[in-house]
Amino acid sequence: MTRSTDLRRRGEQVLPRGNSRATLYVPPAAPYARAGAGAYVTDADGRRLLDCNNNYTSLVHGHAHPEVTAAAVSAIQSGTAFGLPTEAEIDLAELLTGRFGRSMRWRFANSGSEAVMMAVRAARAYTGRDLVVRLAGAYHGTYDQVVGSAEPGVPGEVRAMTIQVEPDDEEGLARAFGSHGERIAAVLVDLMSNRAGLRPLSPSFVAMVRREAQAAAALVIVDEVITYRLAVGGLQASYGLEPDLTVLAKVIGGGFPVGAVGGRAEVMACFDPERPEPIHWGGTFSANPVSMVAGARAMRLFDGAAVDVLNERGDRLRAELGDAGIEVSGRGSLLRLFPEDIEKAWWALYGAGVLVSTNGLMALSTAMTDDDLATVRDAVVSVLA
Ligand SMILES: Cc1ncc(COP(=O)(O)O)c(C=O)c1O
Repeated sequence: MTRSTDLRRRGEQVLPRGNSRATLYVPPAAPYARAGAGAYVTDADGRRLLDCNNNYTSLVHGHAHPEVTAAAVSAIQSGTAFGLPTEAEIDLAELLTGRFGRSMRWRFANSGSEAVMMAVRAARAYTGRDLVVRLAGAYHGTYDQVVGSAEPGVPGEVRAMTIQVEPDDEEGLARAFGSHGERIAAVLVDLMSNRAGLRPLSPSFVAMVRREAQAAAALVIVDEVITYRLAVGGLQASYGLEPDLTVLAKVIGGGFPVGAVGGRAEVMACFDPERPEPIHWGGTFSANPVSMVAGARAMRLFDGAAVDVLNERGDRLRAELGDAGIEVSGRGSLLRLFPEDIEKAWWALYGAGVLVSTNGLMALSTAMTDDDLATVRDAVVSVLA
């Protein structure tokens, strides 16, 4: 029996399907990871794979980058969490504000889901309204208010607080605002949603989101949890969009749990405890110095030049796969494959030594060499072409 099979047998006694994340499920069960180093992950059976999953796009420098690890170890040795604020959260907030190039205030959390939840709460508190417009097919984490309409366990009353519009459906958006404009707190958009196909929204639709929201005095929340790795100012910069609130997570934690909401001071003032009716948002491990320090180090290593290099490599890989007749979407360092049978393709790629996400999403890391990228290309071509 393999070690992964053994772990799965043990795991299924204590965890539904043997682990804690639905996103890791691929029938009959994904192998377990043992360790990671640079561009590679080793599974429990000792198989070494080129990691194009990178923990669902979050490990932009691959595994255990020496400088990020050293920063995290130093933070751990100085105490991992305190009942007082720390300089580390100021440092990361300053760094992010500098990258977006405009005045912003931040609040940190421990996941993207939590940050989305915080942003929606802020929009409702700021506008005094309840409804949220979201785009069909997009994933924004696990908060009741923003999961797709098919998710069980969400009360009907909560579902009724969300209006769903198809991506790029300008008529649908106009209808939503025409019928409910005065009750809409925010429009929540991911400018290139992985789950919806990793295809950028059209600039005219995004401009319309901004216009309609402004006319109705609603807010625009942009979820850049995945797309933030594409530009230091996020994908929003390429649309010339300045949302009221921006949600980040994944890459900004340097491999540790993180989420963040950033926005105009006036909106973020909802969290100010000196306000008459502030949003009371704590979080025992929010802005813990390990995530803050590791995240800041990872982002300093991922400056504009490094972002451009990684995006160019992603664009090249996408072009090569396209030339080989493979359907592939995305932009820069984010790619998505669309095999007819994703489970079969996932296992075939695994067998060829390449780990992709269970829906065909791939995210490059700065740890990958040109040889690594050629290996990825050849494996994908051999499995999908
Ligand atoms: C676009 C987007 N938003 C939000 C989330 C939720 O983030 P987390 O998994 O950190 O809760 C994800 C997770 O993959 C995501 O892709």
